[in-house]
Amino acid sequence: MNEIDYKILVDYISQKIGIDGNLYKERPFKRRLMVRMRATGKKTFLEYLQFLKSDGEEIDKLKETLTINVTRFFRNRETFDFLERFVFPEVINKKERIRILSVGCSTGEEVYSLNIIMKRLSLKRELNYEIVGIDVDEDAVKKAHIGMYRDYSLMELKEEEKKKYFKKIGDYYYLDESLKQNVYFKIVNIKEENILFTLGKFDFIICRNVLIYFSKEFQEKIFYVFYDLLLPEGILVLGKVEILTGNVKKLYKPINVKERVFKKN
Ligand SMILES: C[S@@+](CC[C@H](N)C(=O)[O-])C[C@H]1O[C@@H](n2cnc3c(N)ncnc32)[C@H](O)[C@@H]1O
Repeated sequence: MNEIDYKILVDYISQKIGIDGNLYKERPFKRRLMVRMRATGKKTFLEYLQFLKSDGEEIDKLKETLTINVTRFFRNRETFDFLERFVFPEVINKKERIRILSVGCSTGEEVYSLNIIMKRLSLKRELNYEIVGIDVDEDAVKKAHIGMYRDYSLMELKEEEKKKYFKKIGDYYYLDESLKQNVYFKIVNIKEENILFTLGKFDFIICRNVLIYFSKEFQEKIFYVFYDLLLPEGILVLGKVEILTGNVKKLYKPINVKERVFKKN
């Protein structure tokens, strides 16, 4: 495969949809491009680039393949349980107002799971909080706003949570409007540092199953950005498949390594 054509294709995609292949791990990124090349019967990067420019719908299909949106409510439930029992109460007790950022929030399940927890904690004491969900994928963010889900998304929910927060109509579960309170979604690409800083500072940054797709260099850079976005003693939560490596380790103190919960140093 021609590397120059690959770079031209990567630049074109970055210009069109903002997903910059240079920041992601190269092999998996190429593999996902090839999924679309196979699906459209294109044998080289150049052929695919020409097709991409000529076919109005292909760019959306490519975006869908590149932005892996898989998510669900309370994904890896034990992490949320740990946050609810041990981490949120401690922070809440010290603060007047809590700000939470969900990075790569996809179709909203992570944000709404956090809101279920915050609502439960609000029963003990009225809480002033907001949860901001950001994602590069405009379609995912639209779905997050709507709050309409299939079975898969609810597989880790408890029966009482399903009953309390969803109404089933046909094949879909509709999120209760009360969970949309205190929640804001924005289309943001995490490579755009200046935009990230317009969001203000946060007590919690939850960035799960997003950075795994990015190169080591970009991961390190974004951990510095998160450090600046976190308030003193702010909490960073990563996905089970993600780790802090190298220089950035010194920026955060582990709270629970298994659940990937860290505190800003
Ligand atoms: C696998 S989902 C993770 C969803 C959720 N955090 C979870 O753990 O269930 C990854 C999300 O990261 C988003 N993403 C990928 N690159 C991004 C970028 N450069 N900026 C913002 N979001 C990005 C994708 O659009 C996708 O919705």
